[in-house]
Amino acid sequence: MTDRSKTGLARGLTNYGDAGFSLYLRRSFAKSMGYSGGLLERPVVGIADSGSSFNNCHRHFPELVEAVKRGVLAAGGLPLDFPTISLGEVFLSPTSMMFRNLMAMDVEEMIRAQPMDAVVLVGGCDKTVPAQLMGAASADVPAVQLLAGPMMPTSFRGERLGACTDCRRFWALHRAGKVDANEIAEVEGNLATTAGTCAVMGTASTMAAIAEALGMTLPGTAAIPAVHADRLRAAEASGARAVALARSPIRPSQIITRLSLENALRVLLAIGGSTNAIVHLVAIAGRVGVDIPLAKLNALSDATPVLVDLKPTGQHYMSDLNAAGGLGAVLRELKPLLNLECLTVAGETLGERLAREPAWVDRDVVRSFDAPLAREGGLVALFGSLAPNGAILKRSAADPRLFEREARAVVFSSLDDLAARIDDPALEVTADDFLVMQNAGPKSGYAMPEAGYLPIPAKLARAGVKDMVRISDARMSGTAFGTVVLHVSPEAAIGGPLALVRNGDRIRLSVRERRIDLQVGAEELARRRASWRAPAERPARGYARLYIDHVLQAEQGCDFDFLRRA
Ligand code: FES
Repeated sequence: MTDRSKTGLARGLTNYGDAGFSLYLRRSFAKSMGYSGGLLERPVVGIADSGSSFNNCHRHFPELVEAVKRGVLAAGGLPLDFPTISLGEVFLSPTSMMFRNLMAMDVEEMIRAQPMDAVVLVGGCDKTVPAQLMGAASADVPAVQLLAGPMMPTSFRGERLGACTDCRRFWALHRAGKVDANEIAEVEGNLATTAGTCAVMGTASTMAAIAEALGMTLPGTAAIPAVHADRLRAAEASGARAVALARSPIRPSQIITRLSLENALRVLLAIGGSTNAIVHLVAIAGRVGVDIPLAKLNALSDATPVLVDLKPTGQHYMSDLNAAGGLGAVLRELKPLLNLECLTVAGETLGERLAREPAWVDRDVVRSFDAPLAREGGLVALFGSLAPNGAILKRSAADPRLFEREARAVVFSSLDDLAARIDDPALEVTADDFLVMQNAGPKSGYAMPEAGYLPIPAKLARAGVKDMVRISDARMSGTAFGTVVLHVSPEAAIGGPLALVRNGDRIRLSVRERRIDLQVGAEELARRRASWRAPAERPARGYARLYIDHVLQAEQGCDFDFLRRA
């Protein structure tokens, strides 16, 4: 355990049974890196660097880390950067979600094991932000998070393109035969063209907004584009702030609290944020011993308007939000609903922050509280016989004409089954059916991939069908849109009711009533349950074994059972 009475390099000495020797040896080895004795006396600021050549969103991290170091040095600290696992969203198999907890463990243990008085967490791509917040919350060493910042959109043939809502839009057009192979190849080269995280209000941008709403980043930094000079200034300021935090008693456990988590939920709803963020927020909350029941999400959602007009639900990109006033503009509109006494890493309360900020806002991008884009929040939890522990629908990204209906289920037993049959011309399916996919949840062996956005069957896509009700225990990319019911719990792979759905069953969806029900009698369900067998084999060894043995369901944040604070 870290000895908190010691600071700087004297913290948490390696145990040789002789503390004096341990310190002498550590200082000697530190001097081998060329540091002067004076520098080694300074407070140590660790910089958790998640840069990697397997993470395009973090390609500017060398420059960002240098700027953090500059800030630390100028403020009188000693910056020591260290690598952690990086999770590049599209480079990981089976899915980055499987490794979020591994990264959280890496971050937590390296903060705890190495001698640092404070840490700057440099992250950005989807899972890296929650992983760092989870790890930092558990380690509870003073911490400030510095985000990658969003990519810039690209001008392409008279329109703006940005990852990754436009990726999906063009791919859907390609599937429907409206964009040919040459054009899709050209689009491919113009979707993601700068450093930074996806340019829309996807998971990364949502988590950036949440990190700022929680108070774990410096104010006003969530939406600064990755390539903007302000991003480097934010890095320098974060380094300097970490030195101040090293000398202060402010720890993540004083910032991530029940009240700041509620603020973050409000922001998630008001920005029309990603469904993934609810899983991550629940996991972060679990690290500080706070429960966020999905019923709470519904209560807040009913009373939180959607204010931000960004893709995938709206028109604009993250760089537009930054120019429109950033997250501060959103927070000011939400002020009557927020817990203003919450402390931030800047050492001020949220209320103090909002009182000192200028009132500039571009109403094209951030609507007023009184004239919102929607009166109710973007996410809603559904419960019922198909999802006794809950499911999530992003209603702000869905077609309201599909919200109240009963329909026939067209069932796919797995992702492989989906891939094999979805475009089969012989597939019996109409636009009025509900597409159901089983066995894509946390314990399925697929590790809850972003596959809940089931493609519209090719023959229906060609006929002009753009949206259908889709139901699964998978997740969905924050950059996607559609009437997609996700995170059904308990999942099919552990025998949840989703596992018992058969082709032709009737399912009733009512967003108004917050319900999703399987219209099959108890006797028939009991008969099906008796013959049900778990689909996934338990991995023999390694992290995959640890993961499947300990991962929790979506409504518990998919954290490991042994990592939540009791
Ligand atoms: Fe990194 Fe989208 S791929 S944020």
